[in-house]
Amino acid sequence: MKRLFKRGLVLGALLLIGALATGLWYHLLRREPAPHFASEAENFKYGSINTAPGFPLYIWEAMLDGMADQLPPGGLGLIQEPGRSTPVGFALRTVGFPGLNANCALCHCGTVQSADGSGQQVYPGAPAQQFDFRAFESFAMKCAEDPRFTAATLMPLIRRRHSLGWFEGWVYRWLLIPATRKKVLEQRDASAWVDRRPPAGPGRTDAFSRLKINFLGLPDDGTTDTSDSVPLWHQQARTGRRLHWNGAGTRVDQDNFLSAVTLIGKPGNLDAATFNRMTNFLWNVKAPAFPSPVKAPLAAQGERVYRQHCAECHAPDGAKTGQVTPQSEVGTDPDFLRMWTPAFQAALKAYRQPPFNFDGMVPSDGYVNPLLDGCWLRAPYLHNGSVPTLADLLQPPAERPTVFFRGGTVYGPDRMGFVSTGPGGFRYDTSVPGNGNRGHIYGTALPATEKTALLEYLKTL
Ligand code: HEC
Ligand code: HEC
Repeated sequence: MKRLFKRGLVLGALLLIGALATGLWYHLLRREPAPHFASEAENFKYGSINTAPGFPLYIWEAMLDGMADQLPPGGLGLIQEPGRSTPVGFALRTVGFPGLNANCALCHCGTVQSADGSGQQVYPGAPAQQFDFRAFESFAMKCAEDPRFTAATLMPLIRRRHSLGWFEGWVYRWLLIPATRKKVLEQRDASAWVDRRPPAGPGRTDAFSRLKINFLGLPDDGTTDTSDSVPLWHQQARTGRRLHWNGAGTRVDQDNFLSAVTLIGKPGNLDAATFNRMTNFLWNVKAPAFPSPVKAPLAAQGERVYRQHCAECHAPDGAKTGQVTPQSEVGTDPDFLRMWTPAFQAALKAYRQPPFNFDGMVPSDGYVNPLLDGCWLRAPYLHNGSVPTLADLLQPPAERPTVFFRGGTVYGPDRMGFVSTGPGGFRYDTSVPGNGNRGHIYGTALPATEKTALLEYLKTL
């Protein structure tokens, strides 16, 4: 009798352990297929390239609901499309719990809003000039530091949106909420160097410093590479040309993998099928046409000016297009180039986990002469985004705005750039280190009529 009772106890305990293990596996490890998107553009905007568990969606929602006062006044600049549960660039996948991971569209998808706020057009592949990456990061960090980041505050907010089972609730309360907080605080400590850089504002990130310090583990050397995002469309036309603002990239495929690894943490996390779909899309997708009518005769006059003064460096058939112009010649702000240190170059070359090889990266002493397809959507202009409009870029540097406001999504077709006169937005000050707006004086001495014609032609690119 006694022995039977003991056996019963052991069996009960085993069953309990088994149930607990299954429950934990289910809520923390089970892998569901990532959502599939029918169109290539949707896959680019929402597809998940990271198979690792993401940031718990329910906790993210509860942070927005309960700690919205930690958001910056201008918001984060995320693009929310109607009918979508997450903003563009936030990819959902369930590994135990529904989690969010960033994809390329976070920084490489733009939007233009109509002036009366009645509608928005979303442009996959365009630089996300409205998205404030640092504000986004610091929102998560401020929430993690906030005494409200506890199960007591967050659980009721989660339950308001989702009905959780008893065990699932337990997993959120005792495991996911504390672990998420810990992870964000660890990321804050690993990214302390960011606070030693001037504020970036929307549309700009320190992509290379993140690679150098957070991914490759090199010490902070104090250099600043805050730069504008770039368009990723029509990569096919970029083969054989130098990539990245400084032209350090020589191979489109390697540069895509380089960008991916900073997002997914380690090569093994890549969802290769989704990623390949994205890069195939980028290979072919063309820059979007200028959305308003273009005056054809004026543009034809402008094309002649362009051929004479710009095509050599920017047209698809230009002798120097896609090559590097030394900084001493183009004269734009030199700060960005300093981050390309010999130690960084060596660490990139040494990294070998095929297909994540970066041996095509080369040193550079200047800036790339970029193809200008979709020129209108590349605003603000130059590598540091220091010139708000094309009209300003055609002014001598001394006459370009020294202070303007970034992050707006209403487009001004007359000057060709996002409306940046304020109020509101990030105050961009060209006197801040790395933010200089000098150089690139091509076309600045043209007569006004020729500039007007050239601007009209630039709409057609
Ligand atoms: C956090 C923002 C961010 C994310 C996310 C991001 N990028 Fe970028 N990307 C940038 C910035 C900023 C630049 C410009 C800096 C530079 O390369 O000189 C850039 C440049 C590039 C370039 C160079 C293009 C050229 O013409 O010179 C490629 C290629 C690229 N990114 C691919 C990707 C891919 C693929 C992904 C997703 C796996 C991705 N990026 C995700 C910020 C981002
Ligand atoms: C000698 C080569 C050269 C010539 C000629 C030249 N450019 Fe550029 N252009 C560059 C370089 C290099 C950059 C990148 C500089 C930087 O970002 O610091 C650039 C950048 C630009 C950009 C900004 C692209 C972006 O995404 O922000 C525009 C627009 C542009 N050029 C237009 C023109 C026009 C219009 C002309 C003719 C009036 C012209 N360029 C003539 C080399 C040239």
